Amino acid sequence: MVSSFELKKESNLSKLKFLNKIEKPYFRVFVQALNKMIRFDILSLFPGMFESPFDYSLLKKAREKGLVEINLHDIRSFAGDKHRTCDDYPYGGGGGMVMKVEPVARALDFIATGRTETEIVLLTPQGETFNQKIAEDLSRFSEIILICGHYEGVDERIRENLADREISIGDYVLTGGELPAMIVVDAVSRLIPGVLSNRESVLFDSFSTGFLEYPHYTRPREYRGWGVPDVLLSGNHKEIDEWRRRGALKRTLMKRPDLLKKAELSDKDRAELKELKITCVKECDE
Ligand code: ADE
Repeated sequence: MVSSFELKKESNLSKLKFLNKIEKPYFRVFVQALNKMIRFDILSLFPGMFESPFDYSLLKKAREKGLVEINLHDIRSFAGDKHRTCDDYPYGGGGGMVMKVEPVARALDFIATGRTETEIVLLTPQGETFNQKIAEDLSRFSEIILICGHYEGVDERIRENLADREISIGDYVLTGGELPAMIVVDAVSRLIPGVLSNRESVLFDSFSTGFLEYPHYTRPREYRGWGVPDVLLSGNHKEIDEWRRRGALKRTLMKRPDLLKKAELSDKDRAELKELKITCVKECDE
């Protein structure tokens, strides 16, 4: 028999395939705007860790406005014994403990039964590395369940049968999936329309555009002898836009040249890049 999890996985997959065909950030934001609010359910052995990070700044406001809902679930409440055991020794021996499958499965039965639009994410160092594109993909779901892995690892059956995808926040190992879950909630929530006051800032985010952001300045005009580029004070918006585009190209070329391979470049961008490369080589030779 096909389980409700499998049916849900198929429906989520076809939805993502359709949305991923939308290449242009403008259209993606438009489609995303259909998603009015997002609900996160976080399964953790340490739900207390989440109490304050979501109580500040934009996430606090987003929750107050009802744009983002965050529910915490203690995996231990779903353990079957009086000691609320959630880990056990690995079959086959070896060091470390393994997170048990039953408490997680029971928690998911409790939270996700009957829901068809939920994406279930396991946070683990073995997952695909989190990036802006994945954050955008996730922001199109109205419900996301985050399972925070712990101990030496999780029972493989959680990965194989319960999670839709696995996410790692980078090539380093943390004590658990709680901090990664916070990062995912933050990055995804700010993409929900209304969470940021200015939609422009999502459109022109580093990574959404394919480039790093251009340099920003604010008052004072001079501090300790450090000035602000004249062009930004000129009031000439065409020149300012050109300076910013060039700044974004230069910064990306210097810090993350790999991003340029995928970025959408105009002929003018290509010419600028050529010039920037020549200047960089000259500067290095001097
Ligand atoms: N759990 C431990 N380390 C992790 C990582 N780098 N990403 C996601 N979950 C983790």
